Amino acid sequence: MRFHPSRRELLLALPSLAAISGASAAAESTPGLKDLAARQGRLYGAAAATYQLADRDFAAVLAREAAIIVPEYELKRFLVEPSPGHYDFSAAETLSAFAASHGLLMRGHPLVWHAANPPWLEQAVLSSRKEALLSGYVTAVASRFRGRMHSWDVVNEALEPSDGMPGGFRNSFWFKAFGPGYVELAFRAARAADPSALLVYNDFGCEAGMPANDLFRARTLSLLEQLLKRNVPVDAYGMQGHLSAYGPGIDPRKLGTFLAEIEAMGLRLIVTEHDVDDAGGPSDTVARDRAVADASQRFLDVVLERPALIGVLTWGLSDRYLRAEGMRASLFETGLRKLPLDRALVPTPLYRAMSAAFRTARPAR
Ligand code: XIL
Repeated sequence: MRFHPSRRELLLALPSLAAISGASAAAESTPGLKDLAARQGRLYGAAAATYQLADRDFAAVLAREAAIIVPEYELKRFLVEPSPGHYDFSAAETLSAFAASHGLLMRGHPLVWHAANPPWLEQAVLSSRKEALLSGYVTAVASRFRGRMHSWDVVNEALEPSDGMPGGFRNSFWFKAFGPGYVELAFRAARAADPSALLVYNDFGCEAGMPANDLFRARTLSLLEQLLKRNVPVDAYGMQGHLSAYGPGIDPRKLGTFLAEIEAMGLRLIVTEHDVDDAGGPSDTVARDRAVADASQRFLDVVLERPALIGVLTWGLSDRYLRAEGMRASLFETGLRKLPLDRALVPTPLYRAMSAAFRTARPAR
């Protein structure tokens, strides 16, 4: 079953506007990113984390700007199944309750990934090769949130052509134990557990214009084709959208063609984790902000051309909660600036680029 971001879904997000008591009148009269996206029939949203919700200023802005949230880490398996068969959904439920009380949608992320797993899992999978270690988890988690998730990233990052495996598969423990069939297993279990959630294959590697990305795009297209040929219930391709302002840029033609091909397969598209890394730039904040905004705008202009594009989520809303990532964050006094709001929750040039992109985009289908 396909998920349609219907008027009802979009209207569901609206009561949150009135619910924000702390927001100033001026802020309320200015359309937020979600309002601009909604005019095109799309969603804007952001990754959020439980530790951020205690920050009331931030939580109010999140509810005003985002129509949909996705847990930053609260649905990662290391937290959800710390020991075999012992599930802990409390953190994810906190986010779910926040979303429900503010009329926001929620995405689930991720069900099957090679990273952020509990330490016991990899060995257990490799030594037993029990499919239940994969499908049992998918069933338990997707059932828990049945009817409450807009979409699920069912499998995250299955491909890594540079690993040299057939089909461009990442040589993860999932692949080692089950071969390429693990992707199908996961999607089938997810559909059975939650028939209404949009089921997404989520990955990076297809954004930039380098030869390695050409290969990644080719492998992604064939993976999706194979899945559809086998009637695997995949509904959408999730493009993470992590960009780098001073690294390899996108090639609009290659990116546009790739997304159009996925669309032609009948799949929806969603940008799931957009941000723009400004590491490697000059110390001048104005110049870095400009480069970040420009990179995002070039990207969004291409993705928003696609009628199948449901929405765009950024990996966080404000730089306030960016973690120090080793050396890179300490390069500048200001830290990294890669999200729509700065640490003071003030809109950055990236925010304005996103607003402009949503304003001028052609509507979703
Ligand atoms: C990261 C989160 O930001 C961390 O808090 C978490 O512990 C590990 O994962 N691609 C993804 C996301 O699909 O899940 C990652 O998020 C960032 C890269």
